[in-house]
Amino acid sequence: MQKDIEEVLISREVLREKIKELGKKISEDYKGKELVLVGVLKGGFVFLADLMREITIPVDMDLISVSSYGAATKSSGVVRIIKDIDINVTNKHVLIVEDLVDTGLTLKHLKELFNTRGPLSVKICTALDKPSRRKVEIEVEYDGIIIPDKFVIGYGLDYAGKYRNLPDVCTLKESLYNKN
Ligand code: IMP
Ligand code: MG
Repeated sequence: MQKDIEEVLISREVLREKIKELGKKISEDYKGKELVLVGVLKGGFVFLADLMREITIPVDMDLISVSSYGAATKSSGVVRIIKDIDINVTNKHVLIVEDLVDTGLTLKHLKELFNTRGPLSVKICTALDKPSRRKVEIEVEYDGIIIPDKFVIGYGLDYAGKYRNLPDVCTLKESLYNKN
């Protein structure tokens, strides 16, 4: 696996610091409120697991599974719900927890979906953000680390299903995805 990595872009230490900061802010902002964290599978589960342990107020959590990429490194723009959440979010605050905002299409779709379910609010928290790639305007209330327009793997992020278990956010050797 190490031989496929070009470089470490964001180390686990830098991620940890940012997650602490986000967890602290979320704990303050949602104090006394009923909060549901919704992790976006598959990539978002690593971040969700770390983030929720930095949150010091009681929270409920659930997972939603969406697919927008297949095995490609560019978004198709098609968002498909593969598994929905089980929790009823009516009259609750929803915080969508995502690994990375790229074009913004996935989160725009998810925000609209949850807004149809009578929540008190729907906000977004992301570990990583590639603002230079945005295709749709979307507000990210809890923004993580800004990264350049490079394809990244690790910390939940995959290439063709692999590398999610890398503890750091890394770039993949271009020869592995530009095969001609
Ligand atoms: P968006 O709908 O274009 O914002 O897509 C966001 C999702 O695409 C992220 O949650 C990731 O799962 C995936 N994605 C976007 N960029 C990358 C990348 O560089 N590496 C791996 N997955 C990515
Ligand atoms: Mg994702």
